[in-house]
Amino acid sequence: QNERESLYIALSFANEYYQNLLWHHTDGKAIGHSYFKERGFTDQIIKEFELGYSLDIWDGLMKEALDKGFKQEVLEKAGLIIAKEDKRYDRFRGRVIFPIHNITGKPIAFGARTLVSDKKQPKYINSPETEIYHKSKVLYGIHQAKQAIRQADNCFLVEGYTDVISMHMAGVKNVVASSGTSLTDEQIKLINRYTRNITVLFDGDAAGIRASIRGVDMILETGMNVKVVVFPDGEDPDSYARKSGSAQFQEYLQKESQDFIRFKISGYAKEGVGDPVKKAETIRNIVESISKIPDAIQRAVYIQESSKLLDIDESILIAEQNKILIKKH
Ligand code: UTP
Ligand code: MN
Ligand code: MN
Ligand code: MN
Ligand code: MN
Repeated sequence: QNERESLYIALSFANEYYQNLLWHHTDGKAIGHSYFKERGFTDQIIKEFELGYSLDIWDGLMKEALDKGFKQEVLEKAGLIIAKEDKRYDRFRGRVIFPIHNITGKPIAFGARTLVSDKKQPKYINSPETEIYHKSKVLYGIHQAKQAIRQADNCFLVEGYTDVISMHMAGVKNVVASSGTSLTDEQIKLINRYTRNITVLFDGDAAGIRASIRGVDMILETGMNVKVVVFPDGEDPDSYARKSGSAQFQEYLQKESQDFIRFKISGYAKEGVGDPVKKAETIRNIVESISKIPDAIQRAVYIQESSKLLDIDESILIAEQNKILIKKH
């Protein structure tokens, strides 16, 4: 039995352990299960995403696992237990658990959310990188979403665990999350196995929008098609789906899906109408994005459209684009 295999087994054991606590332990029921209920999660969705609970003690998982014959060293390498000087203790304590699965549905890591809202501890604690978990290559929810992505020929990309789950409940199952890390090429390639179309859902705050725009440019470079949906300020897909209900949420996605060029231009319209310096900056920025698209015909179409929307001569945009393209080669 090799090392990777033993890590899979340990992760799988922990996954069962955390779920058991959520469904059968007094604290798990009163604290963990209640928390998910208050968020509007149904029992069915809790089961589907294999959500769990970790007891608020130092060695709940460790004791149980050692008892079952797991080696201390394996538990550490699996990221389940922290070893600090001569102390050993559970990584996840008193938190609700979101297992992260690989594409075949095996648990390979956990995200754990705190239940208290003080600023002293991080909202989520996640598994560290391990032999079986490389977070830059993983998308949360891919296992649950892959069939729906293929069927819809589109993949929604969101920020967080709860966004994925709430969207499933709202009947939108072709959705994955980058889970806090900025989007990577490997994650984009993973989506590209199922579809060439990505719709990026932006949290409605400035930081969320800025972070997502970098991701959009990366997607363009791979030659995939990208649309964006912006949520109202202060809302994320989770909160908005719960607030609006399934039908209205789906309608919002459909109505608000917009082409990334139009999105960038509307950003300009909001910020700097009539400011020539701002306008020049925006135009350059948009041409930057367009020049990332590998396909020349597609680029031409976007240039033409930008020329109209920004009311600027097409030849100027083409000249600017050529400058950028030459620099790249
Ligand atoms: P958010 O702060 O938007 O959290 O982070 P959320 O998903 O909306 O969670 P709720 O609704 O408050 O419960 C988005 C994602 O970034 C990662 C998590 O994957 C989270 O889902 N994150 C966030 C962390 O890894 N650590 C953190 O401390 C915060
Ligand atoms: Mn490896
Ligand atoms: Mn956010
Ligand atoms: Mn969020
Ligand atoms: Mn949220």
